[in-house]
Amino acid sequence: MTRRLRSRAWLDNPDNPDLTALSLERYLNYGLTLDELRSGKPIIGIAQTGSDLAPCNRHHITLAQRVREGIREAGGIAIEFPVHPIHENGKRPTAALDRNLAYMGLVELLYGYPIDGVVLTIGCDKTTPACLMAASTVDIPAIALSVGPMLNGWHKGQRVGSGSIVWQARQMMAAGEIDYEGFIELAATSAPSVGYCNTMGTATTMNSLTEALGMSLPGSAAIPAPYRERPQMAYATGKRIVDMVHEDLKPSDILTRDSFLNAIAVSSAIGGSTNAVVHLMALARHAQVELDLTDWQSHGHDIPLLVNLQPAGTYLGEDFHQAGGVPAVIAQLMGQGLIAEDARTVNGRTIGENCRNAEIILPDVIRTFDAPLAHKAGFLVLTSNLFDSAIMKTSVISADFRQRYLSDPQSPNAFEGVAVVFDGPEDYHKRIDDPAEPITAQSILVMRGSGTIGHPGSAEVVNMRPPARLIKDGIKALPCLGDGRQSGTSGSASILHISPEAAAGGNIALLKTGDRLRVDLEAARVDWLVSDDEIATRRQALEAAGGYAYPPSQTPWQEVQRGLTGQLDTGAVLEPAVKYYRIIDR
Ligand code: FES
Ligand code: MG
Repeated sequence: MTRRLRSRAWLDNPDNPDLTALSLERYLNYGLTLDELRSGKPIIGIAQTGSDLAPCNRHHITLAQRVREGIREAGGIAIEFPVHPIHENGKRPTAALDRNLAYMGLVELLYGYPIDGVVLTIGCDKTTPACLMAASTVDIPAIALSVGPMLNGWHKGQRVGSGSIVWQARQMMAAGEIDYEGFIELAATSAPSVGYCNTMGTATTMNSLTEALGMSLPGSAAIPAPYRERPQMAYATGKRIVDMVHEDLKPSDILTRDSFLNAIAVSSAIGGSTNAVVHLMALARHAQVELDLTDWQSHGHDIPLLVNLQPAGTYLGEDFHQAGGVPAVIAQLMGQGLIAEDARTVNGRTIGENCRNAEIILPDVIRTFDAPLAHKAGFLVLTSNLFDSAIMKTSVISADFRQRYLSDPQSPNAFEGVAVVFDGPEDYHKRIDDPAEPITAQSILVMRGSGTIGHPGSAEVVNMRPPARLIKDGIKALPCLGDGRQSGTSGSASILHISPEAAAGGNIALLKTGDRLRVDLEAARVDWLVSDDEIATRRQALEAAGGYAYPPSQTPWQEVQRGLTGQLDTGAVLEPAVKYYRIIDR
């Protein structure tokens, strides 16, 4: 232990006795001793994301005890502190607004206090990218600990997945099959224990990708929160971070272009949430790793779906763990040469070394590469005269949808429709079931005003259900596109993340109900069938009116974030923050 750790500057600095004394004395008042604090042992932060406000991550409060024991065992001193809580389903107007807020807060804590290494307690959707982004900006040794998914939900002998059941239940309610109480009861059965969403939503996706990136111990992502292996993993994680400090193994050693491409491949194979695109792009920008939106198509689109989890498949989180979890998926991809095996991970070994011998235990839950659940499970990156970029998960297009829209033998991958335009989610809810609205089976539902500026943080609203009258006629889904996102627990095949958004001056602001759109999945293209002259005329009119109107901010942070955020295609980061990288002077 020869390297002088950064915490010494606070806790043992003879050049500045006043400041040292002031820093030291208050850590004593809850029982730490001078001997401990001046021993030169690494001070390990436990960045606590769990609280009563963040129920998905709340179990971390319990797990932190085992993390502390691991830290102590390995010769470190634990200091636990809160991270701005984020609960995906509870935060209004949207949890996405808080990812960058939690990021900023955590950067300040890691930079401004005597912390030599940190355990990032990840889980609910945005808590994971917020923590990884901050650790990357500061670049001190960091290891992520997932809180783990909830146990499987069950209703009348069927697996009921969190989030996904809500999208099903809203159709059942629209069709008159259940009432409000039935709706709530179904949703409640999907959440039987501590932990995060048990579906392949954004949480399971981001925790799995954290492991694929090499930022958590192998096998740690899929362990359900209540299982005994979870606190055992917490203990191992606490032990390991102390060694990482001694080895000076930092996020910048782990987060490389190779590790991101590995994560993209894994994202396809697990059927990952579309939100992963935004979060990985954001992390890459803070890690100063070159990653382009088109990498998702070139490195991810053709990879098949191996993990049979809801919403795309049948099973849930417990099954994924029992089947072999992330290492088994990576081993399948390695067999096809689709993983950069030399990428380093937090345990000091490469991803190849960690996963080479991982086996599939339940072959219906994790498929082999030769017997996948679906082909081409990644994202298509679309272009258009309506936008610069958008993404689409084509593997979730249903057979019914395919039959209705993609069965013309002349152009089996393209269809035309008529736009019905909504300005934000309130407008949609007001109008969708109005019989006067011209919505038919040929309509394409368009959501705008839902991007990072229009709906601060960007809303998960692009997957819109058709009017109840169409659902009753058997039309369960209409094509949707928009400048916002969709929930990771929704299996809809929507065109998402249109950038630039309406509020940033994108052409989608000029679209009108009645305009024709042609979607060509072969060419990855959306054509807005309106003349250039007409577009120019509408642009002039919009500018004369002062641009696309969106609701005012309701809180100070909404205003600050709106002024600084980029678009979804580049991760929706706080643009002025990106230049701060490896901010700890080594
Ligand atoms: Fe928190 Fe799904 S709502 S993980
Ligand atoms: Mg969500």
